[in-house]
Amino acid sequence: MHFQWYPGHMTKAKRMMQENIKLIDLVIELVDARIPISSRNPDIDELGNNKARLILLNKSDLAEETQNDAWVEYFKRKGFAVVKVNSKKGGGIKSIHGVIQEACKEKIERDRKRGILNRPVRAMVVGIPNVGKSTFINALAGKACAKTGNKPGVTKGKQWIRLNKNVELLDTPGILWPKFEDQKVGLRLAFIGSIKDEILNIEELAAELIQFMKKYYMGVLAEKYDIMENEDPYQCLADIAMSRHCLLKGNELDMAKAAALLVDDFRSGKLGRITLEFAGDYE
Ligand code: G4P
Repeated sequence: MHFQWYPGHMTKAKRMMQENIKLIDLVIELVDARIPISSRNPDIDELGNNKARLILLNKSDLAEETQNDAWVEYFKRKGFAVVKVNSKKGGGIKSIHGVIQEACKEKIERDRKRGILNRPVRAMVVGIPNVGKSTFINALAGKACAKTGNKPGVTKGKQWIRLNKNVELLDTPGILWPKFEDQKVGLRLAFIGSIKDEILNIEELAAELIQFMKKYYMGVLAEKYDIMENEDPYQCLADIAMSRHCLLKGNELDMAKAAALLVDDFRSGKLGRITLEFAGDYE
């Protein structure tokens, strides 16, 4: 699913978020482990002010493990509870219940002092499009997908998924808009496929990816495509086209096809586990 954002979308998304956030105790924010900063919208810090916060490094299976660990430390230093997850395969999901209780312990304690016992924590999942919100909700809720909407005390129209006696999850995730105005951020979002490919032409996108790979993951492309890592990214792309027989009529190289192949290989993890943003570059 690709998304084009217009000011109208952003206003609507923000309004929905403001409404829903009033109902919850805990914000579960998904980020893409390959770009944990660029896949966030910092407005969530203001929106989620006074709420317990949990950050999930989703798609951690596609990012480098040492970097995942560095990012866990980074977000912990900022005061967030953090878990690495692979929503697609269920990795990390089991540990989440314990982390939720820990992240909400102040609220649970406040309730206890007021004599409110066993009131479940209410949580909402938020994140930019395509970060894995629906996949995560399915993985977490699994079969325990009993809906609890439209009962007394439950806001009309809102559906809550009762995960267990301690936690209820709003069944519609909050959508955050990515901050793609910054060129670097836009490029990284395009690499992972979160914004429309048309924003950059696919050959330019592939050339940028080749330059990144040569700088930070030297040798990976050479090995995968059996090419030399040439100085000129477009020459590299031509070599990939050649090596993968991406040809047009008359044996001309099909650069667009090679570019799409490379970008697809990256997105699906076929180039290996690659992180695009390094925790060490952020304080
Ligand atoms: P959204 O609700 O935030 O928009 O995202 P959604 O769950 O639809 O997930 C977007 C894509 O990301 C899906 O792939 C999904 O399978 C994939 N995904 C979600 N979590 C993970 C993860 O932890 N690891 C990996 N590797 N992929 C993940 P898709 O290509 O749209 O669908 P499909 O081909 O997987 O069915």
